[in-house]
Amino acid sequence: MFNSKISGLGKYLPENTVTNDDLSKIMDTSSEWIIERTGINERRHIKKGDGNTTATMGVKAAKIAIERAGIDKNDIDLILFATLSPDYYFPGSGVLVQELLDIPTCPAMDIRNQCSGFIYAIATADQFIKSGMYKNILVIGSENHSGGLDMSTRGRGVSVIFGDGSGAAVLSREEDLSQGILSSHLHSEGKYAEELSLIGPSTNRWVPEILDANDPEDISYYPNMNGQLVFKNAVVRFSEVIMEGLTHNNLGPEKIDMLIPHQANLRISQFIQKKFGLSEDKVFNNIQKYGNTTAGSIPIALTEAWEDGKIKQGDIVVLAAFGSGFTWGSSIIRW
Ligand code: ACO
Repeated sequence: MFNSKISGLGKYLPENTVTNDDLSKIMDTSSEWIIERTGINERRHIKKGDGNTTATMGVKAAKIAIERAGIDKNDIDLILFATLSPDYYFPGSGVLVQELLDIPTCPAMDIRNQCSGFIYAIATADQFIKSGMYKNILVIGSENHSGGLDMSTRGRGVSVIFGDGSGAAVLSREEDLSQGILSSHLHSEGKYAEELSLIGPSTNRWVPEILDANDPEDISYYPNMNGQLVFKNAVVRFSEVIMEGLTHNNLGPEKIDMLIPHQANLRISQFIQKKFGLSEDKVFNNIQKYGNTTAGSIPIALTEAWEDGKIKQGDIVVLAAFGSGFTWGSSIIRW
């Protein structure tokens, strides 16, 4: 019997900062509106020609995580890559990372669970390690949102929220069963699939069809979000899945040392903080600087919290996410 523990963390954010005021110059929005509704001040966007892609940003974060884990890249038994914005329609970005890291061969798998992608990837890695099959697994969450957002006023309800960036973790075998990932809890509810989605290009909505449509109303190739429905479901599901994880481990909310919620909206994090009676120093938020980086958001926030010295050995760290699918999940970790 083994557990898995997070042995290394890394993050990469593109340098190009886009402020709310920058957005208000290209669409009908305002910094006041964005801050009041989401808490976001600025986000990072890849700049054309800066060499960043979803996979290359993932590699930059991964190299830091691998070094901090104190392992060699060739010790990695599996790569799990979570994203909704892969470099290619196929193959997935995991194999691109394997090649860019110069690992001759190793299994690589993409996880397509949007904002919950990193939790799904952690849960998958944990099971491979618990079963004894693998010792070191590289888990990456990375997004290039800016490559596919509608930056006109028509898309403002979505495009002001999202940012680019990447985070990575190495999960390694842990023999002390009281340490590491204690449990993960995963859910989905596909009846809401289209409420937060990008429909085309796809096998149902292929590129020539979109281009031939010549229909100004056809925006199926941009992300579409029923913001209020997502918000209402998010606050319920976040609370449920955090409680599910705590109960599973005979813990109460007062035992949480650090909650890292997926950075969807500062108002959602504040709601959860209040609901569980947590002080501000027990909930980590950096959406103010980076926006919603979807699969990247939890590993970026976790890395930053760890780098800031906010996570100590023995701490109970709770990761939780909700997003498109709808999908949601939590992981309970003893650091
Ligand atoms: N600037 C100014 N006005 C805007 C903007 C903008 N950027 N966006 C929308 N508006 C307008 C709308 O047009 C609307 O105007 P109207 O009343 O004249 O029609 C008004 O503001 C209110 O719009 P709502 O969409 O109702 O605004 P809401 O208060 O719901 O806030 C938001 C929108 C921030 C998107 C919120 O609904 C939210 O955060 N939802 C959850 C997001 C989330 O958690 N996503 C999950 C993860 S993402 C993933 O999985 C990929």
